[in-house]
Amino acid sequence: MFALLLFFSVCCCCLVGVFSGDTDAVKSVSVMEGHSVTLHTDDIDIQSAHLILWLFGPQETLVIRINRAVKSVSIFDDVHDGMFRDRLQVDDQTGSLTITNITTQHSGLYQMTISGKQKTSYTFSVTVHTHLPIPDISSYCPQNSSSSSKCVLLCSVMNVTHVSLSWYNESHVHSSISVSDLNIRLSLPLEVEYQDNNTYRCVINNPITNHTQYLHINELCQPCSECLCCCYFTEAVIRLVLSAVVGVATVAVLANDIRSTQ
Ligand SMILES: *[C@@H]1O[C@H](CO)[C@@H](O)[C@H](O)[C@H]1NC(C)=O
Ligand SMILES: *[C@@H]1O[C@H](CO)[C@@H](O)[C@H](O)[C@H]1NC(C)=O
Ligand SMILES: *[C@@H]1O[C@H](CO)[C@@H](O)[C@H](O)[C@H]1NC(C)=O
Ligand SMILES: *[C@@H]1O[C@H](CO)[C@@H](O)[C@H](O)[C@H]1NC(C)=O
Ligand SMILES: *[C@@H]1O[C@H](CO)[C@@H](O)[C@H](O)[C@H]1NC(C)=O
Ligand SMILES: *[C@@H]1O[C@H](CO)[C@@H](O)[C@H](O)[C@H]1NC(C)=O
Repeated sequence: MFALLLFFSVCCCCLVGVFSGDTDAVKSVSVMEGHSVTLHTDDIDIQSAHLILWLFGPQETLVIRINRAVKSVSIFDDVHDGMFRDRLQVDDQTGSLTITNITTQHSGLYQMTISGKQKTSYTFSVTVHTHLPIPDISSYCPQNSSSSSKCVLLCSVMNVTHVSLSWYNESHVHSSISVSDLNIRLSLPLEVEYQDNNTYRCVINNPITNHTQYLHINELCQPCSECLCCCYFTEAVIRLVLSAVVGVATVAVLANDIRSTQ
């Protein structure tokens, strides 16, 4: 549980944090899952400090204690069911905390408390981004046939948090939608003429990375009536087959019942 660590050489190449000093109170940090992030405290003078604590989450769970008076560094990485196990490194000279191989459960507030001549606290808000899926573009037949002169497209992604989904018309953002909570299915529609010559693409992005899917109007945009007709036809066939199967099964069960009661 206790680990004494004199940590110095942080692997710089695996630090993929993006810092944006929002307010002077809370420093926001974005990081990709699986990467490492260092919560920097460069501008903080800890030379006169005798005790430095790192606290995590709303319950302010103690994860690191640096007692400079006796030169000891304690890492409590078995808290919260061991979610920090083998993931925490601390620089006892600067007090910087590094979280390696980060996962979404490590998102949240990290508070550094420095006790010296006076007590000061610094808060870091860490957002862990999952790997982005590639958006999927499909054509969509609205029930309403009034807009059938246009091709309606849907750009969608599954199971995403903290992302924006945008349609670009050439280099301009045509429309955009953002989510911060888990969204099982995020979709953004676009209506284009069947003979549209502009280049459209759907882009998913978070503060760290993005993926693009280009729209191929010729491949995706078929006149809606045909599509509707074939969809309904397939559905009708499936329903027919299903009800036939259920019917046969019911007859079989009934026959069996009648036989056993006799
Ligand atoms: C990173 O964490 C995941 C589980 O969250 C684990 O499966 C994987 O082995 C870890 N990778 C490294 C390099 O420690
Ligand atoms: C078709 O769309 C129009 C407006 O675009 C709407 O007023 C009308 O109710 C819609 N009809 C159906 C059947 O959805
Ligand atoms: C989305 O999440 C649900 C439940 O967590 C899962 O069943 C489903 O397979 C996921 N879909 C994709 C495309 O990852
Ligand atoms: C895309 O941009 C072109 C040129 O500005 C415009 O004519 C066209 O209507 C736009 N497409 C959509 C779907 O808005
Ligand atoms: C698209 O381009 C073709 C020739 O490249 C042109 O004939 C057609 O009018 C264009 N359509 C639109 C909607 O601009
Ligand atoms: C996507 O990421 C690249 C760098 O990887 C960047 O140059 C580009 O501007 C980004 N595009 C959007 C739409 O965010």
